[in-house]
Amino acid sequence: MHHFRYAGQNLHCESVDLAEVARLYGTPTYVYSATTIADNYTRLAGSLKGLDIRICYAVKANANLAVLRHLGNMGSAFDFASSGEMRRVLAAGASVKESVFAGVGKTETEIRLALEAGIFSFHVESEGELARINHVAGTLGLKATIAIRVNPDVDAHTHAKITTGTSANKFGIPIKQAPAAYEAASKYPNIRIRGIQSHIGSQVTEVGPFLETLEKLAPLAMDLKERYGISYISIGGGIGVVYREALASGQAAWWDAQPEGKRPLTPEVYGATLSPALRKLGLKVLLEPGRSMVANAGVLLSRVEYLKRGQGKNFLILDAAMNDLVRPAMYDSFHEIVPLCRDTTRRALVADVVGPICETTDCFARDRQIQELGEGEYVALMSAGAYGHVMASRYNARPIPAEVLVKGSAFEQVTARETFEQMTVNEKIPAFLK
Ligand code: LLP
Repeated sequence: MHHFRYAGQNLHCESVDLAEVARLYGTPTYVYSATTIADNYTRLAGSLKGLDIRICYAVKANANLAVLRHLGNMGSAFDFASSGEMRRVLAAGASVKESVFAGVGKTETEIRLALEAGIFSFHVESEGELARINHVAGTLGLKATIAIRVNPDVDAHTHAKITTGTSANKFGIPIKQAPAAYEAASKYPNIRIRGIQSHIGSQVTEVGPFLETLEKLAPLAMDLKERYGISYISIGGGIGVVYREALASGQAAWWDAQPEGKRPLTPEVYGATLSPALRKLGLKVLLEPGRSMVANAGVLLSRVEYLKRGQGKNFLILDAAMNDLVRPAMYDSFHEIVPLCRDTTRRALVADVVGPICETTDCFARDRQIQELGEGEYVALMSAGAYGHVMASRYNARPIPAEVLVKGSAFEQVTARETFEQMTVNEKIPAFLK
C-alpha cells in the first residue's frame, strides 16, 4: 500500500498536489512519500515479530540523504555496496555501527574506511577478499567482523539481469565451497566470524525461492553456529513489488480483490513463511530490503512536450528520458504512467511513451493506453522510488533530476536539479589544445 491517490482530478502524494510540485520545481522530478516508506518499514519489521531482527536497508535502491535520514530515524541500519554509500549514510547524520558492507570488489581503501567507521560486519564474497580484509584490519590493529555470502544455487525466477543466486552469477561463494572458506577465515588472526549471508536476486515475486534458500542454508548455519559461534544470518533483500497496477495497489481494497493464490507477495506472507525456519536457527536475523522499502514510495514527474501522431503509431514525448529512469531501457521493466490531472471526459490515446534522447531504447512504454494528453500537461511514472534516481546519468548532457520529499502536507526539494555548471565543473580543456 502507498500514499498516492487522486483527490478530485488531481494526483496527490499524501496531502500534496503533485501538479503543484511539478510547477514549483520543474520536471523531471522524483517525489517520495515519507509515510509510505515508514509504512513499508514497519510492515516488514512487524511480519517477523518475535524474532530478533535488524533491517539493513539496501542503500543502492535509493541513496537520497533525506530518505536515508528518515530510515535511520526509524531505527534502520544499512547495507552498503560501496564506501560511497557508507559515506552517504554518514552525511545523512545516521549511524553505520549496525550496518553491513556487501559487494564483490571491495578495495583496500573501502575496507579501511569501513573499519575506521566501525561498521557491524563485512559480507565477504571471495577468499581473496578474506585475505584482504585480514590484511587491512591488521594494519589498523583491529579485528574485522565478517559473514560469508553463500551462493545457494537457487533460481529466484526473476529477470536474468537481476538474478544473483545461481552458480552462473558472480556473487558469493558456492555453498559447497563455503565450509572450506569458513575454515580459511577461522585461521586469519584479524578476522572474527560472526554470520552467514545470502541474497538470491531482486524483484522476487514468490516466496518459494526465499524458503528454498533458507532450507539449503540451515544445516550449514547450524554447523557454523556450533563450530564458530556465529550469531546472525542475513537473508538479503529481493522482495518484489507491484508494478503493473501500481496506482490501484495503493488501496487495501485492491489487495482484497486479488484472487486467492494470485495475490502478489506481501511482507506478511514473506514473514509468516520464513519465520518458522528462522526461529529454529536461533540466530539474529538481518534483512537487506531495498526495493520493497522505497519503490512504491516514489514517482517520477514529467511534462509532455509533444504528442506526435505518426503512421499507425502515436508518440507521447516526455521531458523525462532513459537517463532519468533507465529501468525500462535496461530491464524492459514496466512502470504505470498516469496523468497528474485526470479527465474522464477525454478520449483514450494509444501511444509509445518516449523521452527526447537519441536512442530507440529511450522508451518508457510501447502502445500504452493513456488519456489523451498534450503539450504542457504532466504525467507520473509510478513505482519509481527504487533504482530510479540512483541510476540516473547525464547522457545527452542532461542534468541529474531533482528530488522532493513529502510528509503529510509538508514537502521540500531535497535534491536540486543539477546545473550546467555543476555538470562540467570537473572538466577542462588541456593546454595542448589552446
Ligand atoms: N542485498 C544485496 C547483497 C543486493 O545485491 C541487493 C540488490 C539487495 C540486498 C537489495 O535488493 P532489493 O530488496 O532491492 O531487491 N537495478 C535493479 C536491481 C538491482 C539489485 C541489486 N542488488 C533494478 O532496477 O531492478
